[in-house]
Amino acid sequence: MAGHDNEGLLRFPDGFVWGAATAAYQIEGAWNEDGKGPSTWDTFCHKPRKILDGSSGDVACDHYHRYQEDVEVMAELGLPAYRFSISWPRILPQGRGAVNAAGLDFYDRLVDALLAKQIEPYLTLYHWDLPQALEDLGGWASRDTAQYFAEYARIVAERLGDRVTHWITHNEPVVVSLLGYFMGEYAPGEQNPTAAFQAAHHLLLSHGWAAEAARAASPGTTEIGIVQHLRPVHPATDTDEDRQAASRYDGVVNRFFLDPIFLGRYPEDTVALLEIIMPEIEDGDMKAISTPIDFLGVNYYTRFVVRHDPSMMLIEASEVQPPDSEYSQLWEIYKPGLYEMLTRLHSDYKPKRILITENGIPVPDGLDLDGRVRDYRRTAYLRDNLAQLHRAMAGGVPVEGYFVWSLLDNFEWSHGYQARFGIVYLDYETQKRIIKESGRWYAQVIQQNSLDPTAVPVLVPSRL
Ligand code: FCB
Repeated sequence: MAGHDNEGLLRFPDGFVWGAATAAYQIEGAWNEDGKGPSTWDTFCHKPRKILDGSSGDVACDHYHRYQEDVEVMAELGLPAYRFSISWPRILPQGRGAVNAAGLDFYDRLVDALLAKQIEPYLTLYHWDLPQALEDLGGWASRDTAQYFAEYARIVAERLGDRVTHWITHNEPVVVSLLGYFMGEYAPGEQNPTAAFQAAHHLLLSHGWAAEAARAASPGTTEIGIVQHLRPVHPATDTDEDRQAASRYDGVVNRFFLDPIFLGRYPEDTVALLEIIMPEIEDGDMKAISTPIDFLGVNYYTRFVVRHDPSMMLIEASEVQPPDSEYSQLWEIYKPGLYEMLTRLHSDYKPKRILITENGIPVPDGLDLDGRVRDYRRTAYLRDNLAQLHRAMAGGVPVEGYFVWSLLDNFEWSHGYQARFGIVYLDYETQKRIIKESGRWYAQVIQQNSLDPTAVPVLVPSRL
């Protein structure tokens, strides 16, 4: 049980899983090496004006060549677990058909390096880098892509299933479908509402199919879940109009992606709202999507505050930034959010187990004269979120682990390298890795399996 001790420290249960997370496109680089095919993110970044600083993941943290050094850094931090993703086009350059042996070999070596250091791998099959060849055939808006994804899942599970027991099908289908196919801010950069919701359905469907395929390919030990990006949605004011706007928004960004998994149907009010752009659903789809999962992954960063806005098609709601709140480089810092989301999940859906698969913050940081990175705002954010997580656990929410986003500063999608999330600093000129103060603090939390929720971040003595 999550408990307190006499000194007011928050204790986490024995066996609580502490980790850090990354994603292939954001760290690997080597975008066209050893037989890898191009992904939608390669294509997207190579177009002008898609990424704020004009950068791409071509090199990123060069993790493809430096994975051993990165595993060393994880060991130095004392991380018991590491969440990473597989690049689909490294395994299947065309998305289907011929397998690229060198791609599978890379992840094989990575997994062995992790296990040699007693670091438990948590493997995500899809963190947004769709093979471009499949995008050319319609991408996630095409039902065939779901089939190809299940086949890809089988291939990876056959190779790594003897050593990897924790599997995640998708990372944040809401972001892939809405930012990728509706807003056009992420690859593939489409602005097509019909395609976006069709993509959402196919992503969810492919989750169910891939879960079955991976389980069949690696029976016995495999536990499988899906990762959702979840934010509480609050009305900007206490008017009926804004409250209803918040509920509509919540339907589209949260319930549309949770109800099918846990309840086997799309939420009625959202279906009515989206009527003209609701996806085509075939017999058996909802059953496949709601195949039981072993855990739900929750990525938490911030909340939405929305107001009634008739200018927005169908949803008639838009986001506002509450004044006089706290902010990071990209989002509002809303402290009770993780607690709110977890208690709601527990009462509405009762997932068997929950893992916080991402939580982190972009704050400007850099090297001080002595070579240390005093990213105290990050430490404070992580501390406050862990306190909220502990509060939810003490109230009975079955959370079994927590992964910081991110192990390393990395390529933050359309924000390029401007937004740093790492607990390890990346000097992109030299590719040097430097553990930040937040990383040193996190190492202590892991070691003690507890934290002081009131402690103001200070320099951690140089043990590391
Ligand atoms: C999440 C993504 C992750 C990272 C963080 C900041 O939505 O899953 O790749 O970019 O945001």
